Amino acid sequence: MGSFTRLTGIALLALLARPVVAQELAEEQVNLVSSRLAESARRSWEIGTRAQAILEHNATRYSVFANNDLPPPSNIPGDQQGPLEPLWNIARGVLSGGAGGSTAQPLVSDSAVSDPASIGVAVLLANYTNLDKKDDQYEHAARNQYDYLMSNAVPKNGEGAISHKTEQIQLWSDAVYMVPPFLAYYGVITNDRTPLDQAYEQIKQYRAQLYDSNAGAWKHIVGGNSGTDDSFWATGNAWAAAGMLRVYATIDKSKFSGKMKSQKKDLKNWVQEIHKGVYERYFDGENLLRNHLNDPNTFYDAASSALLASTVYRASTVMGQHKYVPYAERTRLTLFTPNTGPWTNTNWTRFGDYQYFTTDGWLRPVVDPMNTGNQGQNSPEAQAFVVLLHSAWRDWRWAGEKGKNAAGRTAASYSTVLASAFSIAVGSLLL
Ligand SMILES: *[C@@H]1O[C@H](CO)[C@@H](O)[C@H](O)[C@H]1NC(C)=O
Ligand SMILES: *[C@@H]1O[C@H](CO)[C@@H](O)[C@H](O)[C@H]1NC(C)=O
Ligand SMILES: *[C@@H]1O[C@H](CO)[C@@H](O)[C@H](O)[C@H]1NC(C)=O
Repeated sequence: MGSFTRLTGIALLALLARPVVAQELAEEQVNLVSSRLAESARRSWEIGTRAQAILEHNATRYSVFANNDLPPPSNIPGDQQGPLEPLWNIARGVLSGGAGGSTAQPLVSDSAVSDPASIGVAVLLANYTNLDKKDDQYEHAARNQYDYLMSNAVPKNGEGAISHKTEQIQLWSDAVYMVPPFLAYYGVITNDRTPLDQAYEQIKQYRAQLYDSNAGAWKHIVGGNSGTDDSFWATGNAWAAAGMLRVYATIDKSKFSGKMKSQKKDLKNWVQEIHKGVYERYFDGENLLRNHLNDPNTFYDAASSALLASTVYRASTVMGQHKYVPYAERTRLTLFTPNTGPWTNTNWTRFGDYQYFTTDGWLRPVVDPMNTGNQGQNSPEAQAFVVLLHSAWRDWRWAGEKGKNAAGRTAASYSTVLASAFSIAVGSLLL
């Protein structure tokens, strides 16, 4: 558990009163959330996001957030073999679907251009580590996906931004998580700087169309003649920040890092710009984001709140940006605290009494991923966001919890959480 020197006196009191049980999800609870994710992720981007959750939570040596240079070892260390197995099953599924042929095509068929590329990192790793000794089939699958994105079959706007749709040129904020991280990883695996530049360029062009400086946030969908969505969809802002962080980390750990300083600097600014806009303008005492950030008639959405908070911890550990950590802490404590108060969870294998989780580990309330104006029920991507939040927080804690006490303006609500911990701690001492 955490370092004692960093615990506040109040937390220490609580620990004295209730030994062992800390204010965080237990590993077993995160695995319960992951079970719901595994059994529900069926659509391309859900599978891709699950792949990333597997890397960040379990197969950490193969995550771009690992503290090692890229590419990772092609000989898989023993302790990573078990954790990688679910990732390999994803790659195997793609191959058995026919992706290893010799024509440019997406990894899986989909009505959206961008989403299949989200599975690309799993396939690149399968190729790189020679999974199942499939000759060059994984290589073909990865190259087919890359060639498809670059081909004329995929429309692009005048500046080269890849459309999310084939029938019209349309940019979706979600795509920043699906395409650029694949392109960047393609560059490190094939030892070629061009795809890394393309990853950066895609983000730059997406931001040029979607970021609204007056609102301080990204719009959801622009361009084309049907299906546009000018709303400041909270999840879209979180997808964009999370995609940029993966690309940043990929560049940063690659041998091209020294030559891509200005690109890294831009990515840092663009992540911080989202954190500043969202947390300084659209975050209130509820500690969660509205589904449409600036629309008080929309519900508080635990899904986007979790993903955006995860990007704050990542920005702290990989970009050295700590300013918004207290906001992320507020979200994390709100979502992960039992109804009975901090440090009161006694059964780590389930969610006995939580406002934001069902007993069997579904996050609630969440946006419907297929109908983003509405609240939904069981959301696969929301399950992945919980895993990403827990993993990003864990890595931030190991890195020394930088920024934990930053930003005085958030102290009030943060101390509310601590105050209830205090009363429980005192209550227990009196018993
Ligand atoms: C991580 O590994 C544990 C233990 O095998 C497993 O229960 C869990 O589902 C895995 N997490 C993810 C995100 O796949
Ligand atoms: C596949 O992996 C090999 C290394 O085993 C690498 O040389 C090659 O560039 C990779 N190709 C793709 C498309 O990932
Ligand atoms: C914890 O919850 C699980 C699942 O509901 C149950 O089977 C188990 O007995 C509980 N353990 C304790 C110590 O209460």
